[in-house]
Amino acid sequence: MANVIAIDGPSGAGKSSVSRIVAKKLGCLHVDSGALYRIMTWQCLERGVDTHSPEAVAAAAAEIEIECRPEDGRIAYYVDGEAPGERIRTPEINANASFVSAVKEVRDKVTALLRGMTRYGDLVVEGRDITTAVFPDSPARFYLTASAEARAARRRKEQVEKGISTESAEDVKASLVARDKMDSSRKYAPLKKADGVLEIDSTNLTLEQVVEEVMKVVLSPKS
Ligand code: DC
Repeated sequence: MANVIAIDGPSGAGKSSVSRIVAKKLGCLHVDSGALYRIMTWQCLERGVDTHSPEAVAAAAAEIEIECRPEDGRIAYYVDGEAPGERIRTPEINANASFVSAVKEVRDKVTALLRGMTRYGDLVVEGRDITTAVFPDSPARFYLTASAEARAARRRKEQVEKGISTESAEDVKASLVARDKMDSSRKYAPLKKADGVLEIDSTNLTLEQVVEEVMKVVLSPKS
């Protein structure tokens, strides 16, 4: 089976940047699992589904087709032949994603898609349940975290740079903390630090320092 480097952690901990760089350095494919939950959320909203109804979300999940294919060093996603782009990064998706991703049928579908991606080669997969539920046997597992303030500041900077948010810093922090709480307390595959994973607190580290930590472990003869 292909090698999988698994990276979990709360929103804004820097998982995407770190995963992308590590994948590039190692020649693996980068897999953003959160984007799959965002696509499920986007498609539920497009179909007028009440995201607070697990039954309605489960029914919609059975109908949603996401095509996954390797492209430019990552797994790219398409719905009806179209890449979702920034449509899945809006405050509306942020506000609904935790409800949709708490639904078992959604999780089962996304987990199956993620496991199927090993057919394309070695992967760096980031998310909330990658080290605990999707690839718990991966020898290289990380839990990346940072203070809520640092995470909110990074998320807001990202949103402002992309021109996709008019939220205040306070609102970004409140939405992020609310999502963390839901993601960590849900019944199926909650976000948690698994035994045996290496925790990296990036509050006072640069991106390069975090990448260096991960690379050190991945390249050590033990892993
Ligand atoms: O990482 P992100 O903010 O793009 O994730 C979007 C949502 O999906 C967030 O509510 C957490 C959820 N998620 C999850 O439940 N499991 C994953 N493996 C990845 C993301």
